[in-house]
Amino acid sequence: MDMDSLVEATIAPRLPRIGEPAPQFEAPTTHGTLRLEDFQGSWVVLFSHPADFTPVCTTEFIGFAKAQPKLKELNTELLGLSIDSVYSHISWVRNVEEKMGIKIEFPVIADLNKEVASLYGMIMPGESKTETSRCVFIIDGDQMLRAMIYYPLTTGRNIDEIIRLIKALQTSDEYGVATPANWQPGDRVIIPPPQTQEAAEERVETEGVECKDWYFCTKELPEAK
Ligand code: BEZ
Repeated sequence: MDMDSLVEATIAPRLPRIGEPAPQFEAPTTHGTLRLEDFQGSWVVLFSHPADFTPVCTTEFIGFAKAQPKLKELNTELLGLSIDSVYSHISWVRNVEEKMGIKIEFPVIADLNKEVASLYGMIMPGESKTETSRCVFIIDGDQMLRAMIYYPLTTGRNIDEIIRLIKALQTSDEYGVATPANWQPGDRVIIPPPQTQEAAEERVETEGVECKDWYFCTKELPEAK
């Protein structure tokens, strides 16, 4: 290992990983000082955007604001972030309301010192050293990090996919199942692969379970989420 890599490996912050506790923080926001632990019991979509007063970010904020009622039904709160001041955030959300007619009701972190951005690895220096990329962290009610999505500066996120992802995670938690590619609520779900020969034999005989083979079994859920 060369010296640069050694220094990097030694001092680089450990980035968050799925299945681990979400890094805790306290930060100034448009709704006052907030701590991640204030959200305990709710799911959280923590998302970063590159900068206030930019067009793609504006479309995303409108998308998130419109999705907020659906997210509330999923016990999920939104928390935005960029490396801008709280005054810039206030001015931008007021502008979005005035020009686009959409009220931004979720808090936005003013991360001028890059503390939260660094903690979560939201800055991709290859893209920009001064802006956060379009990162999404899905945090559950126990404050565990459940999913991460990263988009580049030039591509606006698909908000429907974020909602779908939360529904899939909550469905997996509730029913102990997995969800296939492009799953939508109401679709059949996957029964996780069996861990023993006995379980492999049992599942193919279970009523309501459809198996293509012992490792690929699906079932319907009692109700669509
Ligand atoms: C935008 O939000 O429009 C944007 C921000 C940074 C780079 C490119 C586009």
